[in-house]
Amino acid sequence: MSILLDGKQCALDIESTLKLDIEKLQALGKRLPKLVVLLVGDNPASVSYVTNKDKACHRVGILSEIIRLSETSTEAMIIDEVIKLNKDDSVDGILVQLPLPNRMPSKKIIESIDPNKDVDGLHSVNVTKLVMNEKGFVPCTAKGVVTLLKTYHIPLQGAHAVVLGRSQLVGRPLAQLLTNENCTVTVCHSKTIDIPQYTRMADIVIAAIGQAKMVTKDYLSSKAAVVDVGINKVDDKLVGDVDFENVVDLVRAISPVPKGVGPMTIVTLLQNTMEAYTLREAHHG
Ligand code: GUN
Repeated sequence: MSILLDGKQCALDIESTLKLDIEKLQALGKRLPKLVVLLVGDNPASVSYVTNKDKACHRVGILSEIIRLSETSTEAMIIDEVIKLNKDDSVDGILVQLPLPNRMPSKKIIESIDPNKDVDGLHSVNVTKLVMNEKGFVPCTAKGVVTLLKTYHIPLQGAHAVVLGRSQLVGRPLAQLLTNENCTVTVCHSKTIDIPQYTRMADIVIAAIGQAKMVTKDYLSSKAAVVDVGINKVDDKLVGDVDFENVVDLVRAISPVPKGVGPMTIVTLLQNTMEAYTLREAHHG
């Protein structure tokens, strides 16, 4: 039997700790941490993700606000909102939900966020810090995956980790984070020739390619710990990038979809918001 990397349970445990921390702040009559999410347009998947983030904030006592902007908003209008939030001392974390509608580029908008409030870790200041292995905000899914592996005591130092995917949001930051954890990292992507030759050698496989059930038994060895970042809808059912049923009895450990990485992403956003709050409070005295 393989180990189930239970992201739901792991996230619940972290939520309990955060809830206690926030209860302590409340008892001391302190200001509470606050996250603001900017949601542009009404892409159903984005609405659902943002709603889940809002609910998670409420569960632990983090203040949460969703600002909804119309699909026709211009880049300048969105940046105006971000600048207002940068100046608002009651706001600790700012997240602009991606993707933006009509393929609007996100770069200028992300760069307008105060890096100290960039709980998504996408601002170039935080990206540079991750590359330099300095303290900063790390994108939530990438950090959540590493937290999940550490919680289950999957050895990272010296391990060969293969990351499938090189997106800004997941693959790239994960490869960097795992390098900082002293893994030897291979990144595979759509142009890689013969992906299984790499994944079969891996101690850790992270699937973040967005192809339903692509990773089958042929990709893996019995030593592999497999983390499935995929969220694909097939016949109205959520499935990961890994063919779970096909590989579960072969591998050493595996995360399910749902109840794997998804809850870890959300709880990491709560952690990052708490971290932003703590740093800002320390700074303001
Ligand atoms: N869309 C899907 N995942 C994410 C995320 O982690 N951050 C943002 N900003 N948008 C997303």
